Amino acid sequence: MATPESKYPPIPGMHHVVSTFRILLAAHPRTVDRLSSALSPFGYNLDTATEGHEAQTAIQKGAWDLIIGSTDLPQMDGFLLLRSIRTNRETVEIPYLMMVGSAESQDEIKAFQLGADEVVPEKTSDVGLRARVRVLLRLSTYRRRLQNEKRMLGIKVAERTRELVEITMATVAALEKATELSDPETGHHILRVATYSTLIADKVGLSSELVEKIRLYAPLHDLGKVAVADRILKKEGVLTPEEFEEMKLHTNHGHELLMAAQADEVACNIALSHHERIDGSGYPNALKGEAIPVEARIVAIADVFDAMTTVRRYKEAIPPDVAMRTITVELANRFDTGATAAFIQRFDEVMQVFESYS
Ligand SMILES: [Fe+2]
Ligand SMILES: [Fe+2]
Repeated sequence: MATPESKYPPIPGMHHVVSTFRILLAAHPRTVDRLSSALSPFGYNLDTATEGHEAQTAIQKGAWDLIIGSTDLPQMDGFLLLRSIRTNRETVEIPYLMMVGSAESQDEIKAFQLGADEVVPEKTSDVGLRARVRVLLRLSTYRRRLQNEKRMLGIKVAERTRELVEITMATVAALEKATELSDPETGHHILRVATYSTLIADKVGLSSELVEKIRLYAPLHDLGKVAVADRILKKEGVLTPEEFEEMKLHTNHGHELLMAAQADEVACNIALSHHERIDGSGYPNALKGEAIPVEARIVAIADVFDAMTTVRRYKEAIPPDVAMRTITVELANRFDTGATAAFIQRFDEVMQVFESYS
């Protein structure tokens, strides 16, 4: 038999569009029957729950675009169900339509107070009911769009971060290669210092994020040497005081280069402060104690240990155990206590790295 609305057929294409929405009818069986006959011929995707607990389970399990309830839902009335939906973070935003006995009743006021988006009296025509459902589904569309945009934004941020890390890695690799080509001694130095620094940083108990940054950026600690003249860098023998002053500037040069490249703060700190000493005897700013960033305090130990244990143009190498004792005992006041302790605790691994490059 033709329904009273059969002279208003659905708009072509509408069936497909609306059917992607999921509607839960959480109501008394009588109301469910009425809602089903009004909505299903129009292509809405309906699920039903005719008892309170069944409705709660369905709500938790599904991704709903709209919930239609009734005040007389068996086991748990529609108000209690609505309250539980609005007090749960997962479901608080799902549009909710409450069917009530009559308009302008206490039930209508109570439903709105509990957070219903729409209240419809049972006597409302099917056309009126569907009009309200369409409005609420539009709400759901905006909600979905917002969620999608949020997700897309998250993906874009993650992609951008990965790109930045990859660019940094490529820069580090290129610099390592360039330094190695012009001076193999320095090439191995930066690799060893990076590995020693990572071992110490990991043991000191820094966040995994900071340990990773130290691993990435410690190889750049002497980057500023690219701005120091070869006659000083490759001089056979001890530098004059003037030459040493010029050499010291590699800390400032490295810092300036990294700042200009908008590199991470950790990279900038390492380049600038890896020759600072806890007792204030270091350079370029004679910083003391914790005024020196922790990443620079860590690289300082690794850098000095490596300088002591390798042959340089102007000096012989000393044995690793002697270098370790010198740093941790004789020169202990120049280095961070925690980082020194970590260095001693990881000395076996430090030795493995040392031997692999010998
Ligand atoms: Fe240096
Ligand atoms: Fe160095």
